[in-house]
Amino acid sequence: MINPRFTRVGQGSRKLSGMELMMKQSAGRLGLVFPNPVLVVGTYDQRGEPNVATLAWGGIASSGPESVSIAVRPSRYTFEALQRTRAFTVNLPSVEYAAEADFFGMVSGRTTRKLEATGLTPVHGEFVDAPYIAEFPYCMECEVVQSLDLGQHTLFIGEVKDVKIDEALMDEEGNLRWGEARILTFDSGMRTYRAPGEVVGDAFSTGRKFISS
Ligand SMILES: Cc1cc2nc3c(=O)[nH]c(=O)nc-3n(C[C@H](O)[C@H](O)[C@H](O)COP(=O)(O)O)c2cc1C
Repeated sequence: MINPRFTRVGQGSRKLSGMELMMKQSAGRLGLVFPNPVLVVGTYDQRGEPNVATLAWGGIASSGPESVSIAVRPSRYTFEALQRTRAFTVNLPSVEYAAEADFFGMVSGRTTRKLEATGLTPVHGEFVDAPYIAEFPYCMECEVVQSLDLGQHTLFIGEVKDVKIDEALMDEEGNLRWGEARILTFDSGMRTYRAPGEVVGDAFSTGRKFISS
């Protein structure tokens, strides 16, 4: 049976009834959003070995200067590298690399050369001292500009210095073709990886019907 809480009850001009409005329940202090990217973060360790770790807590931080955030627990090997090199890459896997991304989040670079184990190829960043993954379609080179201890996680803000991108991901006008890339996402509720979904509307357009002229 379809759970009415997950159906679109406010469709069209229909207003919610009093009962429907009362159907939401308090879920407590959840800090989750969806969809959630799978960010594979690349760093160099103190021996100069490339390491990668899957960090799902993170995303866009600013458009100018272009910046991203990653939330890293101090126990991660990646944490030490970030503090030392002040550099990282954010690599977005396509769906066929779900197993590799999962592995990068299960074992530590302290004990395992994760890239060697999967056969993926580290490439030294052109602008920062961090490795990106050649096989992944979208790789951002970032310099750490700020960090903020929030408790369980420390938030690192990385200023984007360059993005390495598969040619197929960009059209002649320079628009990113995310739909073609099938970038992997993380479902934190079900602890599964998901492929991106269908297009349901044009941005800055489908909502126009609510703007009074
Ligand atoms: C789907 C997924 C998401 C994860 N997200 C985070 C995260 O946001 N922050 C974090 O500190 N660890 C996260 N982890 C755990 C680290 O990836 C894991 O501890 C990894 O072994 C760290 O590698 P390192 O010790 O080589 O840095 C995640 C793991 C998985 C599988």
